[in-house]
Amino acid sequence: MEQSVLAGKTIVLGVTGGIAAYKSVELLRILQKEDARVRVVMTAAAARFVGPLTFEALTGEAVYSDMWSRADGDAIRHVTWARECDAIVVAPATANTLARLAHGLADDALSALVLAATAPVLLCPAMNVHMYENAATRENLETLARRGYAVLAPGSGFLACGDTGAGRLPEPPLIADRLAWLMSPKDLSGKTVLVTAGPTREFIDPVRFISNPSSGRMGHAVARAAEHRGARVILVEGPVSLPDPPGVTVKRVNSALEMAEAVFASAADADLVVKTAAVSDYRPESAADQKIKGSRNQLSLSLLPNPDILAELGGRKRAGQLLIGFAAETENLAAHATEKLAKKNLDMIAANLIGAADSGFSAETNKVTLFTRDGSAVQVPLMSKNALAHLILDHAVQLWGKEKG
Ligand code: CTP
Repeated sequence: MEQSVLAGKTIVLGVTGGIAAYKSVELLRILQKEDARVRVVMTAAAARFVGPLTFEALTGEAVYSDMWSRADGDAIRHVTWARECDAIVVAPATANTLARLAHGLADDALSALVLAATAPVLLCPAMNVHMYENAATRENLETLARRGYAVLAPGSGFLACGDTGAGRLPEPPLIADRLAWLMSPKDLSGKTVLVTAGPTREFIDPVRFISNPSSGRMGHAVARAAEHRGARVILVEGPVSLPDPPGVTVKRVNSALEMAEAVFASAADADLVVKTAAVSDYRPESAADQKIKGSRNQLSLSLLPNPDILAELGGRKRAGQLLIGFAAETENLAAHATEKLAKKNLDMIAANLIGAADSGFSAETNKVTLFTRDGSAVQVPLMSKNALAHLILDHAVQLWGKEKG
């Protein structure tokens, strides 16, 4: 799976009449950026909040809202679009639309289309907190969940109506993420995946540390991809400024020693360990309690080696467990990478040459070569870190298959 799971897919975006309808425009753009084809269905109430023209201009396709219109010559568009779509996301889903869906009504374009669909459906309720907590809405949501609809719980906070509580439409990137989850094959279900990400910080005094520019993006991409594919995922990460991936257990650490402790605590249960973290090889022998004052004199730091976390995991690897490392090199890529693969008892190492702007620490993309134990080297073209994450997981699935076979 080298592309986003949404790429090339046809998604029906159902928009209903709530104040959060304006967020549907951003959701549409996110899905389009993932190369999905999006068709928009609006209820009459939704069209009072956002003009259908906005969606028509962005999709290049007529919005479907009037079941009785013959404008495009398709008298059964609710059935045609239901048949042609790979998934449906209703965001926002009002209490009224949820009630219609729960009772199997088909008296407007959206409810008829959802009733006619066999594709997975993601419902994103958004409304006033009391409407959300009302027994009628709760029961409708329970009914829909029981029937196999995925429901994304609303966020809590200050609502447009002035009340505070649950009812906010989650942010569009989270909705797109849960849609990708819904559409992903669950080939890692039953597996536990442990991922490390980001840099470590080795404090010299309370305000200074040794670190590196790792953004944590590669590790987050692996954690998200594994969660989408059904794995139980534990992410041990150094300081990064990325939001927690949904559905993932996140353990935050600072130093290499803390990372080692957190990793060893979870490693025994892990079927796959992917170590993208850029671990500091050294730490100051002692960290000063107080800020070191600048005296303008020469200062020497005595550094102690940190444990090589991955090498230790390699030493205690159990049958069926896979270890995948990363290596950022400045020269002799193949030689250094294969040496680390052997020394740390890894099953695969993803190695890249640092220096290029499109690859490495902070970039959105990466260009790596995958070296495996059997001596193969697969040169992967430049791709997004999300796509690379899926490719690495594909290799892990293949390696398990070979072990079995
Ligand atoms: N690694 C680790 N613990 C360390 C150092 C590295 O677990 N103390 C892991 C990294 O997460 C990565 C792999 O080992 O998956 C290779 O990291 P790298 O820094 O390239 O390797 P080193 O063995 O430290 O080699 P170098 O001498 O190139 O720094």
